[in-house]
Amino acid sequence: MKVLIVGSGGREHAIAVSVAKSSQVDKIYCAPGNAGIAQIAECVDIAAMEFEKLADFAEEKHIDLTIIGMDDPLVGGVVDVFESRGLRVFGPRKNAAIIEGSKVFSKDLMKKYNIPTAAYENFTEPEAAMAYLETAKMPIVVKADGLALGKGVLICNNLEEAKEAVKTLMLDKGFGDAGNQIVIEEFMTGPEASVLCYCDGTHIAPMTSAQDHKRAKDGDQGLNTGGMGTFSPSPFYTEEVKKFCEEKIYQPTMDAMKAEGRDFTGILFVGLMLTEEGPKVLEYNARFGDPEAQVVLPRMKNDIIDVMNACIEGRLDEIDLQFEDNAAVCVVLASDGYPEHYEKGKVITGFENFDGKEGYYVFHAGTKQTEEGIVTNGGRVLGVTAKGRDLKEARANAYEATKLIQFENKYMRTDIGKSLDAIK
Ligand code: AMP
Ligand code: GLY
Repeated sequence: MKVLIVGSGGREHAIAVSVAKSSQVDKIYCAPGNAGIAQIAECVDIAAMEFEKLADFAEEKHIDLTIIGMDDPLVGGVVDVFESRGLRVFGPRKNAAIIEGSKVFSKDLMKKYNIPTAAYENFTEPEAAMAYLETAKMPIVVKADGLALGKGVLICNNLEEAKEAVKTLMLDKGFGDAGNQIVIEEFMTGPEASVLCYCDGTHIAPMTSAQDHKRAKDGDQGLNTGGMGTFSPSPFYTEEVKKFCEEKIYQPTMDAMKAEGRDFTGILFVGLMLTEEGPKVLEYNARFGDPEAQVVLPRMKNDIIDVMNACIEGRLDEIDLQFEDNAAVCVVLASDGYPEHYEKGKVITGFENFDGKEGYYVFHAGTKQTEEGIVTNGGRVLGVTAKGRDLKEARANAYEATKLIQFENKYMRTDIGKSLDAIK
């Protein structure tokens, strides 16, 4: 069969590697893809938001399955366009992807269906938000309603910062229309865990857990980024936590979406905070996480095509999801200065060191093929993933492997997964 993947990051590279493992797949296309994906797929120059062009391409090439990796096209309704043209596609429709596209929607859904999450209020007027803050308990969290490249969440330590956050989102429109509405919510503490789940509209199958490191610098300092590294599984995500989430969060979310006439098919990413009062939902995403996919997918034993087809056909209950009994760590190699100012176009060397190296992966995020070779083309350049028998070994392997890749302004966090030492 022929598969088209839509997106261009490390996540899409990880999806492509999983798809390439399937014996059912003869040919992979990726739109628009990147230099790493190009080694296993044919990249086509169509942007992820060009829905009709993507569908034209899928029709023309007789694509059997299209997998949407990114949030923007999902929230924008790419799945609806494919379905209306009779094309097979993996991902939620627009009316379900809103669970990621609108924080107001997702918070209201959780409130209505008693799914544990931080207490909150929604605001459409800055004056009302400012007035509310005057009597609110600090620290507090101010969130843009819409998509903001993962940067629309502002943690505020005091009233002054909180007012500034409201100003940034609602008055200065720092994230455009994403800040037309905001959510102000209670500040929670505890370890975080991300659980990505396959969904078929009715059934939900959680994958192994992972944890992201969102801040740019060691010790969770610096600015928020798309993600500087991940590990899987999370030792904080115990059997007890898992059972609680299955009963109180995952299935109730599926049922809630169905009850609202918004059956969710695709990947539901549940961002959890494991508070002293129990697990609570931080956020939902309607797709694989990046770089969570880079540690979760390499550990999945199933044929990803079987699982995705089962989701599309509403028979996920027939699938026995299986993960390797090991661990994986992904360290993101970024351009120094990310997420602010950084230089691009630096030649990257050392890829050949990974050839045939079992259990090691270099997922490309911001790279480009040029006449000089593969060069850096973004803030997050590569994700180096390594497996190990346990997290400690996986972390040692991943950091060892980061030494095999060179480029001029290479930057990485040195403490991905380090927090684990405290509990071992
Ligand atoms: P989100 O995009 O909603 O997951 O938020 C990004 C990050 O902000 C999360 O991974 C948390 O680290 C932090 N965050 C979001 N909401 C809260 C909250 N209510 N309390 C504490 N931290 C939060
Ligand atoms: N790593 C977080 C995300 O993909 O949203």
